[in-house]
Formats: sequence, C-alpha cells, structure tokens
Amino acid sequence: MSARQFPFKSALVTGASSGIGEAMVELLASANIPTVAVARRRDRLEELAARHSCVSVVVADLTSSRGLSAVAAVIADTASPIDLVVNNAGFGTSGRFHELDGDRLDNEVQLNVAALTRLSRAALGMMVPRGRGYLLNVSSVAGFQAAPRLAVYAATKAYVTSFSESLHEEVRGTGVHVTALCPGLTRTEFQSVSNTSDYAAQYPGFVWLEADEVALAGLSDVAKGKALSIPGGLYAGLAVATGIMPRGILGRMSGMVQRG
Ligand SMILES: NC(=O)c1ccc[n+]([C@@H]2O[C@H](COP(=O)([O-])OP(=O)(O)OC[C@H]3O[C@@H](n4cnc5c(N)ncnc54)[C@H](OP(=O)(O)O)[C@@H]3O)[C@@H](O)[C@H]2O)c1
Repeated sequence: MSARQFPFKSALVTGASSGIGEAMVELLASANIPTVAVARRRDRLEELAARHSCVSVVVADLTSSRGLSAVAAVIADTASPIDLVVNNAGFGTSGRFHELDGDRLDNEVQLNVAALTRLSRAALGMMVPRGRGYLLNVSSVAGFQAAPRLAVYAATKAYVTSFSESLHEEVRGTGVHVTALCPGLTRTEFQSVSNTSDYAAQYPGFVWLEADEVALAGLSDVAKGKALSIPGGLYAGLAVATGIMPRGILGRMSGMVQRG
C-alpha cells in the first residue's frame, strides 16, 4: 500500500517529533490527511507543521496528567473526529534493573503502558459507536521474549502487544481496526535516549530497519485490519521462532545478545 491509498480521513500521532512517529506524519501529510502531531519538543513539531499545511501541533508530556488529558480531549472532540490514532511515543532504559533510576522507570511505565491505555480508551470510546476507526499501538519485537538489561522496556512492550491483540478481537465486526506494530532495531533517536547507542557497532547493518519503512508497514497493516505488524522478513521469521522455542532458552539467548 502506498501513502496515496491510505483510507484514513484524519489522524493523531504521538511521539511525532522524531523517528518512527515523525516518519508516519510525513507519510500521512504526503497523502494530505489532516494530522495532529503530539510530543514535548515544540520546535520539532512546528518544523513539521511548517512543511505541511495539513499538520497541526499539540505540545504535551504524556507522563503528566495534564498532557494526557489534553490529548485525550483532542481524540474525544466530536467536532473534529480522529479516524486514526497512533500511540507511538515510548522509550527504553538499558542497564541492570537494580542499578537504574527508579523515577525514570516509573516514567517509562507511565508513557509506554498507562498513557497508551488511556489514549486507546479515548480512541475506541469514539470509534466503536461511530462504527469506524483505526488504532495503531507501537510495540516492539522486544515484547516477544525476556530481554535482560531491557527488562522494564520488554515488559511494557509485552503489555502493548497483548493489550492490542485483545482489543483487535474485542472490536472485530464493529468497523474499527486495532493493530500492534512490532518493529525490530530501527535507526532513530531511541538508541541515544535508551542508552543503547553501542548497538550500532554491535549489530550488523542488515538487522537495522529505517523509520520510514517501519512507518509505512504499520500504517499499511492497520489499514488492512491486521492484528500484528512486524516489518522486515528477518523479524517476521524471528517472531515465528520465538513462538516455537522454549521460553527459558529464549531468555538465555536474549541475555547473551544483550551482553554482546
Ligand atoms: N527504534 C527502535 O529500535 C524501536 C524498536 C522497536 C520499537 N520502537 C518503539 O517505537 C516507538 C517510537 O520510537 P522511536 O524509535 O521513533 O524513538 P525516538 O526517535 O526516540 O522517538 C520517540 C518519540 O516519543 C516522544 N516522547 C518521548 N517521551 C514523551 C513524553 N513523555 N510525552 C510525549 N512524547 C514523548 C519523543 O518526543 P519528545 O522528546 O519531543 O517528547 C519522540 O517523538 C517507541 O514506542 C519505541 O519503543 C523503537
């Protein structure tokens, strides 16, 4: 599916100031779809809006109740219905769990799990009665198995995948589509934010995805009504393997990969 074929009448994307979210806004804007871009960095969002007249900006910190309420209110506004909601904002924290900053981990769970849940509730609360809509929740292949040294991140993404797959079935037949997008390693600011910049040297080039290919896969798959979107043949194969292999072995292997 190309951007021109997207069925969305309007959209809201969180985490739109960089990486996968920014790439999604670029694709939606290239199809002239009115899109609300959400993040904390106003300057980045305004640059995006300056490039595309169909993009508007909401500056919000989704770990604050004020920011979350503001974005939920945009989704619930009956005067400007949002057809596609993308819960993309998220971050990780690499390191030994017992040594990491507790407040940072609280924020990670708040953003990756609580904010995503609240905005999913806001979205489906409007879409199901309307009999139409698309919800795309950005998860990760990290959620398919244990991930030593990324334990909280992997657990938040396991939540996102399970939650989204449940909603996918729950709304079946209502005209609403829910999809979990599960990318593998993707070149974005994620690595510098999550303290995983050493992955660039640690992992060969062929395992890396580009933000625009992940964005296109996710938007195309939610438009098609898929439950799961796993961009790239390598990661689709890995997802099959993790479904077959014993969980204990998977956790050990994941630990060895994290140690490099
Ligand atoms: N890159 C990867 O390898 C990879 C792999 C699998 C899954 N993912 C997932 O993909 C999603 C997008 O990440 P990315 O790779 O594109 O990373 P990124 O470039 O770091 O983008 C993260 C986005 O989230 C926003 N954000 C962070 N904290 C926020 C907060 N408190 N409130 C509102 N917005 C906030 C950031 O904007 P501001 O800083 O301006 O707020 C930014 O726009 C995440 O959910 C991530 O877990 C990434």
